[in-house]
Amino acid sequence: MSKVTVVGAGFVGATVAQHVAEQDLADVIIIDILEGVPQGKALDLMQAAPILGHDRKIVGTNDYKDTKGSDIVVVTAGIARKPGMSRDDLLKTNANIVQGVIKETQKNSPDAIYIIVTNPLDVMTYLAWETLKLPAAKVMGMAGVLDSSRFQTFIGMELNVSVRDVRAMVLGGHGDLMVPLPRYSTVNGISITELMPADRVEALCKRTRDGGAEIVNLMKSSAYYAPGASVAQMVSAILKDENRLLPCCVHADGQYGLKDVYVGLPTVLGKGGVNKIVELKLTADEQAALKKSADSIRENIDVMKQLLVAV
Ligand code: APR
Repeated sequence: MSKVTVVGAGFVGATVAQHVAEQDLADVIIIDILEGVPQGKALDLMQAAPILGHDRKIVGTNDYKDTKGSDIVVVTAGIARKPGMSRDDLLKTNANIVQGVIKETQKNSPDAIYIIVTNPLDVMTYLAWETLKLPAAKVMGMAGVLDSSRFQTFIGMELNVSVRDVRAMVLGGHGDLMVPLPRYSTVNGISITELMPADRVEALCKRTRDGGAEIVNLMKSSAYYAPGASVAQMVSAILKDENRLLPCCVHADGQYGLKDVYVGLPTVLGKGGVNKIVELKLTADEQAALKKSADSIRENIDVMKQLLVAV
């Protein structure tokens, strides 16, 4: 019986828990520092089970002992981005939170695979990997699935076609410098560059890059439906050993000419976590954009390291 711990019972964490249980992927522990909130949300989710017809247990807690023996730990704990606040403003607070969470969860689930969701995503995933001292295959961040899904949504809307036929690939960091790849984005195998003019392709790439901010500006808080669904897709790929080819935030160790950084790259996700990083042939422009994005993440990793030393 699989067990998934979701740290952070906020909007994203609760949505992850909902999908994981309702897709019958695993039993779920929701843990938070707030007393009552994880317990209440877990009970609410349990009370939906008879209607939805699953028997998954969902437990809310403030005690890390309850997370013992988890197969996957999803970290959503942190402060969410507010309007006008850049992802990087969150750096210091969330770094401290992520480090604390990891120490507690690792004690109880030393074999778990980690999926980091807390922003700034790429930097927090690097910090998690460094703190956990686990093989990089077992520590990844969720962003590429979400950013690609946003791109797919906009492609479907633009062309008035079913999103079921749209596949898209977004690499790079989870920020303004992310790298949507129109050449590798298709409607049933037909590249979108064949289906719409270049200026529309660029407009959709821009909307994808600003996808998170667009939602923050509208509802004054950060997105959670699509982020929650994205995490669940990764959890499913791992627990069911599906070998899905999905973009994830992973440790680059020479791939794409990038080293010692966590950044969004195409991966094959299965039982062991990141089974493989897939190397695509990029154009010079795409490669330059990916490098720029990775350089910016590396700079923020350095800033974070300094901030943590200063604490
Ligand atoms: N341990 C456990 N939980 C914590 C801790 C901690 N040290 N610190 C904060 N939390 C909890 C908060 O109590 C809150 O319930 O994390 C939860 C965060 O939930 P929300 O504020 O609703 O934020 P959410 O929208 O879920 O986003 C979570 O995911 O997408 C990212 O940018 C987003 O970093 C943010 C994270």
